[in-house]
Amino acid sequence: MHSLYKFCLSILPLTIRVGARYHAPSPYSRTTAKTYSIKDFYSGEDFFNGGNVIFQSKSDAQDKGLAYVNSTSDNDNDNDNDNDNDNDNGSDTNIYSSSSSSSSSLTVFAIDSTSTVAAGGSRDAVRITSQKSYTGGLFVMDASKMPVGCSTWPSFWTVGPDWPYGGEIDIVEGINDQTKNQMTLHSGTSNACTIDTDDSDEYTGTVLASNCYSTESSDAGCSIMDPDTTSFAYGFNNAGGGVFALLWDNSTGMSMWHFARSDIPSDLTDQAPTPSTWGTPSGFWSAKTCDITDNFYDHQMVIDTTICGNWAGGAYSQSGCSGKCTDMVADASNYVDAYWAINYVAVFQ
Ligand SMILES: *[C@@H]1O[C@H](CO)[C@@H](O)[C@H](O)[C@H]1NC(C)=O
Ligand SMILES: *[C@@H]1O[C@H](CO)[C@@H](O)[C@H](O)[C@H]1NC(C)=O
Repeated sequence: MHSLYKFCLSILPLTIRVGARYHAPSPYSRTTAKTYSIKDFYSGEDFFNGGNVIFQSKSDAQDKGLAYVNSTSDNDNDNDNDNDNDNDNGSDTNIYSSSSSSSSSLTVFAIDSTSTVAAGGSRDAVRITSQKSYTGGLFVMDASKMPVGCSTWPSFWTVGPDWPYGGEIDIVEGINDQTKNQMTLHSGTSNACTIDTDDSDEYTGTVLASNCYSTESSDAGCSIMDPDTTSFAYGFNNAGGGVFALLWDNSTGMSMWHFARSDIPSDLTDQAPTPSTWGTPSGFWSAKTCDITDNFYDHQMVIDTTICGNWAGGAYSQSGCSGKCTDMVADASNYVDAYWAINYVAVFQ
């Protein structure tokens, strides 16, 4: 039906096509014009001490197919803070926050880059989950570094209860030598949640798959690839990092932006963001083609780095990475840059 519509349009006179273009959706169709207020701000020690973040248990990691080792002792970092709120943290993972003498503070989640792992063994994943859950709002991560390198699978995402029914929103995700950020929605109620490919001028990214419906056995979801190489991995880090933002608006849809450090909107820096002024997002999932309130609710935020796993491991041979994923795992020196350095995560509503 969609292609037929395009065919019909192509045989109409130019003037009518211009007329149709004139009636394109208003700039505010993808987001309500509203200035958002800060609701929760996670930074520095608050990541751990504020009681807002828990570590996933090892058994939960196993359930999700996350790899971890159980061999080394705690790291020696003085700021190590993996004791609070920690029901069963792998003591072999470097997780710490540091407050500098200036006003800024950084939270670092690092893959162990010192322990040798036996051939065929596994290296700890890093994963933190917010205790609070949210249904709608503006979700922002400001990071100066993200994990890079073959075998890594970093992600910043949100997820609802009873997957896939509560939905999943992948704000930052990619694997191995990928150079651009891949943004994905997973919906659970029916096939009726899709990306509106008729409105492709509503986003700058490239649609990789348009149907968001996900099941245990078919869980690709609907993805959009950011066009910008500063949105992921080395390109992101070389730009001094930047900001990822998800605007979850019940009535208009889901929008995602990436801003390199030098392009961060000043209203966001001032903590009074008005996303309707931010320009075309890199990804947009319109409420016109997806029932947002039906498919997405009560989301917790998750930041993690998986090593190999289904995706980075499964697609390893098609990446530009050499050898096998399991060969990478053994050598600790492959993981010196496999860390998140986060200035803050914030939720505005
Ligand atoms: C992890 O280490 C602890 C303490 O050394 C041990 O009791 C436990 O059995 C180990 N778990 C696995 C899965 O190897
Ligand atoms: C979005 O809709 C859900 C369901 O009606 C509601 O619970 C939630 O508060 C709404 N979110 C916002 C930010 O208004």
